[in-house]
Amino acid sequence: MPTDKLIELDGLTKYFYKPMGLLGRKKQVIQSVDHVSFHILRHETFGLVGESGCGKTTIGRTITRLYEPTEGKILYDGTDISHLKGQELLPFRKRIQMIFQDPYASLDSRMTVMDIIREALDLHGDLHTKEERNQRVYELLDRVGLQREHANRYPHEFSGGQRQRIGIARALAVDPEFIVCDEPISALDVSIQAQVVNMLEDLQKEFGLTYLFIAHDLSMVRHISNRIGVMYLGKLVEVGDSEEIYQHHLHPYTEALLSSVPVPDPETARQSQPIMLEGDIPSPIAPPSGCRFRTRCPYATELCAQQEPPLVNVNDHHAVACHRATPQA
Ligand SMILES: Nc1ncnc2c1ncn2[C@@H]1O[C@H](COP(=O)(O)OP(=O)(O)O)[C@@H](O)[C@H]1O
Ligand code: SF4
Ligand SMILES: [Mg+2]
Repeated sequence: MPTDKLIELDGLTKYFYKPMGLLGRKKQVIQSVDHVSFHILRHETFGLVGESGCGKTTIGRTITRLYEPTEGKILYDGTDISHLKGQELLPFRKRIQMIFQDPYASLDSRMTVMDIIREALDLHGDLHTKEERNQRVYELLDRVGLQREHANRYPHEFSGGQRQRIGIARALAVDPEFIVCDEPISALDVSIQAQVVNMLEDLQKEFGLTYLFIAHDLSMVRHISNRIGVMYLGKLVEVGDSEEIYQHHLHPYTEALLSSVPVPDPETARQSQPIMLEGDIPSPIAPPSGCRFRTRCPYATELCAQQEPPLVNVNDHHAVACHRATPQA
């Protein structure tokens, strides 16, 4: 396994400010991502999971610098890219790409497939003639299982799975090394989800890619992730090697996420004590004090309301933020 860190997030924080009242002078603070730290090793797949609204997309968009962080650092291959702009950011825009959750919304409906995929090639300018760039688009279409004659068509002429292939070809066009895959299969028919995942895995091997793979469901990331991070309401609550998270998870929220996944083996199903998640996620505008999960946690105590549990290493491959799991911390 690789050991060097391609990406390191250090206290990454992204707040949005929503104007309130008639004049909009007061602002509500939406704490979408709050002091999150983890790293992604070169060539690995890091799975990021948690219920809808917990901040996964915001992390992905901040790492790719579609958003500027409010606080904290994004170290990319040793360089802090968190506040780079313009020409300084341009080389990283080429190295870091994103595949979006909704293949219907993420492709410009007025552009042909050729123009969509060639856009980044035109911008980054490694291929000097238009013919070379067109040729590259044809090769990319071949690689993602589309046909060359698709190049002159528009996004609405394709199925969801085909559109996601166009999105993947667009991400690959500039030969990136890191791709944020933001729930790339959630909007697709179950019958084609596996095809897209298999293709992403093949591409990873072929091009030595590193992935941040976002999903709301742990079962989706288990087999493709080397390591997994679990988020709740803007916080990272548990992180570790994939099997460690499945076999020896310590956070009640991770337990709850796993309980909601049907277990195929009846023996295992009988042994596990399901925790059901009750109630909705609180708002990131007014998150609970202390541990943000306490309003839904069956083990919550007074301490959980008073003190935020720090993320504590339980071994070299596993860290958790829960007073119950690491009482001495
Ligand atoms: N551009 C934005 N402006 C204001 N609030 C946002 C924006 N993007 C996300 N949010 C809020 O931040 C929180 C996290 O959203 P998101 O990152 O999309 O979560 P996830 O991808 O895990 O579903 C949500 O409460 C969402 O409403
Ligand atoms: S810190 Fe307390 S409320 Fe939070 S997950 Fe652990 S036991 Fe539950
Ligand atoms: Mg999302």
